[in-house]
Amino acid sequence: MFNFEFYAPTRVIFGKGTEMKAGRLVKRFGGSRVLIHYGGKSAVKSGLIDRVKQSLDEEGIFHVELGGVVPNPHIGKVYEGVELARANQIDFILAVGGGSVIDSSKAIGYAMADPDKDVWELYAHERKASGCLPIGVILTIAAAGSEMSNSSVITDEKTGTKRDYSNNISRPKFAIMNPELTMTLPDYQTQSGCTDIMMHTMERYFTQGGNMELTDQIAEGLLRTVMKYAEILHTDPTNYDARAEIMWAGSLAHNGLTGCGNDGGDFASHMIEHELGGMFDVTHGAGLAAVWPSWARYVYKEDLPRFVRYAEQVMGVERKDGMSDEDVALAGIEAMEAFYHRIGMPVNMTELGISPTEEQMKQMAEGALKAVGGPLGSAKKLYEDDIINIYRMAK
Ligand code: NZQ
Ligand code: ZN
Repeated sequence: MFNFEFYAPTRVIFGKGTEMKAGRLVKRFGGSRVLIHYGGKSAVKSGLIDRVKQSLDEEGIFHVELGGVVPNPHIGKVYEGVELARANQIDFILAVGGGSVIDSSKAIGYAMADPDKDVWELYAHERKASGCLPIGVILTIAAAGSEMSNSSVITDEKTGTKRDYSNNISRPKFAIMNPELTMTLPDYQTQSGCTDIMMHTMERYFTQGGNMELTDQIAEGLLRTVMKYAEILHTDPTNYDARAEIMWAGSLAHNGLTGCGNDGGDFASHMIEHELGGMFDVTHGAGLAAVWPSWARYVYKEDLPRFVRYAEQVMGVERKDGMSDEDVALAGIEAMEAFYHRIGMPVNMTELGISPTEEQMKQMAEGALKAVGGPLGSAKKLYEDDIINIYRMAK
């Protein structure tokens, strides 16, 4: 077991009707001039934005709003938000949406603290942020875990470059989580979210050493829970308890809890997928499902005990007479693919609906290495040729 720091400063307000507490919470965290940031249409259509405004009005809090954040959020929208926030002396950002809206809010927050600098420099890893405006979240999709995480992922839409930047100063002050708000999600988004939640835990599970039994048991319990309720939501999307289980799992999967004691995680699948998101604008969770089986088959021999444990403890693989460790590990990967199919997720890029050329795969491999500043992964260190091979296997 390795030394670790666990820092989860976000206040969680969970349950039905909690969005009406937004005004009081903003006030409690010192906000007096608020930018309400949201996505396309869903939060307006459901009446959520009106309810949020009402809650701010009841506390006498000034607010302006900026919608239009797209999945794989754009730096152009961030610049627009910064301009609006400066013009209105905004001191608090309220993100109403999912990972894309929250990440866009974090980027605006960073930019406000460094007015003379281009915020993209953070995502290009050219400097560190000196501060971030306080952020509150009203979560409408359980997926990215950005409501408690220190990271944000932004795309430069002009170049198709998607990059992440992590800093604890961006962790939201509060996260309002009402599972009912997620009931309007299309099934594909719900299941992409469930896939992402699982992947945030799996990325921290398939590592080389530093493992801790308590962390493993939490991770395995979380993964089994998400699998159970993802399948329930596939046929019963308005099941409140299932929505609640998934929502809480989403936050715990990416607030660091399932990484305590290990080496920081693998995250190669994420880096390989982020390139797909930047180049082809695919849905993040579905992209992860499309690359994970190929990544797993490429690396499992180098991390065999973890893959065997995963197969037995999470996927319920039973070792029959004559099965080797490799057989068990591969049966676990196959069971994962079968699960992805049961919830309508792709297991390769063809099923995802894209077909990158050799040149594009090379470009993405270079991009992934650049994003990390070296080889990817923990389970197996991946260099350019390895990453290209994984893309080829995932075709
Ligand atoms: O824009 P609207 O109309 O709201 O539609 C959104 C969007 O099309 C829709 N949606 C959200 N809530 C809804 C709803 N539709 C109906 N009813 C609701 N209640 O869902 C679509 C996806 O939204 P998005 O915010 O993009 O989803 P998600 O939370 O999966 O975020 C994905 C982004 O987060 C990044 C991903 O790379 C991707 O850019 N990630 C961020 C992380 C972080 N900051 O810690 C970690 C993750 O690994 C991930 O990389
Ligand atoms: Zn993710």
